[in-house]
Amino acid sequence: SPQIKIAPSILSADFANFGAEIEAVEAQGADWIHVDVMDGHFVPNLTFGPPLCAAIRRHISTVMDVHLMIAPVDPYIEAFAAAGADILTAHYEAGPHVHRTLQAIRTAGCKAGLALNPGTSVEVVAPLLDLLDLVCVMTVNPGFGGQSFIASQIDQVARLKQIIGDRPIKIEIDGGVDPATAPELVRAGADVLVAGSAVFRGGSVDNPAPYGDNIRAI
Ligand code: DX5
Ligand code: ZN
Repeated sequence: SPQIKIAPSILSADFANFGAEIEAVEAQGADWIHVDVMDGHFVPNLTFGPPLCAAIRRHISTVMDVHLMIAPVDPYIEAFAAAGADILTAHYEAGPHVHRTLQAIRTAGCKAGLALNPGTSVEVVAPLLDLLDLVCVMTVNPGFGGQSFIASQIDQVARLKQIIGDRPIKIEIDGGVDPATAPELVRAGADVLVAGSAVFRGGSVDNPAPYGDNIRAI
């Protein structure tokens, strides 16, 4: 669907070749680049921090969409903004002061996103709508690529769409997105689909055509 954006997650790319991977997947049709930051505390996995984000920023010509799976968030907002994030998405579950966090993200010059774990009701966004540019509905428990899609989240996406109404807030979906799950997500109101394993499978920087086939299949 042409107005739906596909945001490949570089969690499923070759970590030794991020620059070339990003350029390859953009050339194959990626709309945004999704960057998964994990701290081994909020989620049971570790990835990377602001210096690596700054290094890969130079290879991104589209939107750098940074998903912060870290707690606390606030001490790191300025560093990720300085690293070139266009969108900074924090988790609702990451701390008691999410309203302050979202304000701080906009003050740092980024678009503000809020991610919701599968165990969190989408109703929590209601008091925060004026502070939001994006809501990310997790359709897996965050921490790893390649997990199974949690189908009960589709109803939550539809409810979120109703809550947002005609406000300019994008609905992003993250986890287990593939050609089988994407259509019902789009019907429920998704605007941006993150996909890691479903984009990078079968390809490489030396053979990037599968990335394009995979993106078009979603
Ligand atoms: C999960 C990450 C996702 C992940 C998606 O914690 O936030 O962005 O990379 O991977 P797939 O598309 O393989 O489920
Ligand atoms: Zn993510």
